[in-house]
Amino acid sequence: MKHTDIKAVREDKAYLGQTLTVCGWVRTARDSKNMTFLEINDGTTLRHLQIVIDKSKMQAPDEAMKLGAAVAVTGEVVPARDGSAELNAESVTVLGTCPADYPLQKKRHTLEFLRTMPHLRVRTNTFNAVLRVRSVLAAAIHRYFQDRNYVYIHTPLITGSDCEGAGEVFTVTTNGYTTAYPDADSYYRADFFGRRASLSVSGQLEGEVAAMAMGKIYTFGPSFRAENSNTPRHVAEFWHVEPEVAFAELPDIIEIAEDMIKHIVRDLMERCPEELAFFEAHFEQGLTAKLNALLENDFAILDYTDAIELLKKADVQFVYPVEWGCDLQTEHERYITEQIYKKPVFVINYPKDIKSFYMKQNPDGKTVAATDLLVPGVGEIIGCSEREADYDKLLDAMQKRNMNLSDYRDYMDLRRFGSVPHSGFGLGFERMLMYVTGISNIRDVILYPRTVGSIR
Ligand code: 4AD
Ligand code: MG
Repeated sequence: MKHTDIKAVREDKAYLGQTLTVCGWVRTARDSKNMTFLEINDGTTLRHLQIVIDKSKMQAPDEAMKLGAAVAVTGEVVPARDGSAELNAESVTVLGTCPADYPLQKKRHTLEFLRTMPHLRVRTNTFNAVLRVRSVLAAAIHRYFQDRNYVYIHTPLITGSDCEGAGEVFTVTTNGYTTAYPDADSYYRADFFGRRASLSVSGQLEGEVAAMAMGKIYTFGPSFRAENSNTPRHVAEFWHVEPEVAFAELPDIIEIAEDMIKHIVRDLMERCPEELAFFEAHFEQGLTAKLNALLENDFAILDYTDAIELLKKADVQFVYPVEWGCDLQTEHERYITEQIYKKPVFVINYPKDIKSFYMKQNPDGKTVAATDLLVPGVGEIIGCSEREADYDKLLDAMQKRNMNLSDYRDYMDLRRFGSVPHSGFGLGFERMLMYVTGISNIRDVILYPRTVGSIR
């Protein structure tokens, strides 16, 4: 169907005076004595295009007056009062009717209500803005790494290992329900891969393999976690950005993470000013100022041990008590970044017992060269570390965790054949989207959220 994008018609002055066809869905319809006005949207921009119908020349079909109807309109592009353009209709064709039980009749619905209809909520202004920001931010991430000699690696989604060791994996199986096997081992042996396989929680282990040849790599794909936590920050399927950098130590990777965040935010602000203004108006007052401040200031760096002292001194009653050795809960993370620093904070040098096996052990014997990046409003958006490059130390950490060494032979080999210091991080893409849009529930920054007890 030959037609022109509404974004182009509205923004490109070269179209003024031309007769052309646009397509879209009716967002408002208004009738007066002599004129009919339709606003239609085709998804190419947050803004609608006004269609002006002079009743002395033609009558709009009744079905075109219904919210949600799909139409094709041919007419002349003329200047609009707001400086953009509108269309003087010469013909209106209804492509798809939309009956009165179309649920999106009101101007504003709650996000909770919209979550009950993921297939239709995409047609609201909010999701128009969310999905475009998502797309532009994804492209910005690729641009950032591609412009700096990183190689984009596609790591497997089905794996035989558990990178984070938290046991929160989805098993991949072709074996249906049966009681035919005497134990788990024989059950998995009879399965597709001849052993237990699962969906990957992180591409890191294979990312390290690639970095040991390509130097600087990144992955950007889905990760899966069967975390039984129904929170506004967890989904079972999220998108994960994971650079892995050879010859980089913890301070180097921290610098890269901060630089990347600043670059992609700047890129987004240049490309999506209308969407960000929309989020500022409807979701987070002060969003633009927050993002500008992020660009202009250094992120803070705080040692875990000092973070514990700060939290102990805080005159706040936390639900989870604070002691050296405890994992930081969201309430702690948010206190540090929202109340104390009021900007992004890298917490570094966590106790080794609460972190993953692969992290570089610090000389103190108690902590690892790891960091989480915490941001106001969300908490942790990045998990990062220098990797243990020493074979014996890595082996020791794995044995202490009772890990099945045969599952990690390739990974251990990297420490035998030309091992080098290297570091990487994982950015939760949806968490980053929450931060830049001010949307406070992760279910509202992804097309189809998968959460515990819910899939459609
Ligand atoms: O901190 P995590 O578990 O780190 C890793 O997976 C490392 N292997 C990354 C690396 O070094 N290559 O996860 C990284 C980030 C978190 O900071 C968070 O932003 C996001 O992934 N994340 C989730 N996002 C949404 N829902 C979940 N269930 C998430 N789990 C982690
Ligand atoms: Mg983490």
